[in-house]
Amino acid sequence: MNVKKIIGIAVILILVGLQFFVKKDNVSSYESVSDFVTYVDLPKDVEVIFKQNCYNCHSDHTQYPWYASIGALNLVINHHIEEGKEHLNFSDWKRHSEDVQLHKLSEIYEEVEEGEMPLKLYSLIHGGLSTAEKNTLLNWSEIYKD
Ligand code: HEC
Repeated sequence: MNVKKIIGIAVILILVGLQFFVKKDNVSSYESVSDFVTYVDLPKDVEVIFKQNCYNCHSDHTQYPWYASIGALNLVINHHIEEGKEHLNFSDWKRHSEDVQLHKLSEIYEEVEEGEMPLKLYSLIHGGLSTAEKNTLLNWSEIYKD
């Protein structure tokens, strides 16, 4: 067997092995964000932007693309979701004190203004916020700005 073949087999074994780590567990219903939607005054157009661009990583309700079941990609995607939810989880909104909620809202303004959110890689694949969407989010969250 030549070296190329051995490497080829090793790569396949690693990919197959990674399949065992695939987990698709972040799927409760859209209802999970109902607290956020009711506690915070969220106009319909803003809600739609959050749903399409943010909830996948910042709520308990991820709409997984088909390629999420590929082991190596699943690891990356789930890592983003775990980290995203750790910082900000719209499905967990009620748990925060009012101070913390206000702080999170101010962070939203900041992150969107600086173009930090959605994550670069995600924007690259899904198409990020349009200028109009960005402005809608900024106008809405401006009152929370620090
Ligand atoms: C692909 C996953 C992903 C998407 C989509 C995404 N985020 Fe994030 N978000 C993260 C991760 C990971 C972090 C933490 C690391 C960081 O700040 O880069 C984060 C951090 C944040 C923070 C900082 C929270 C804190 O308290 O530090 C805010 C605010 C935020 N995101 C808002 C948004 C908004 C608003 C959208 C949609 C316009 C969005 N994110 C879309 C993954 C994502």
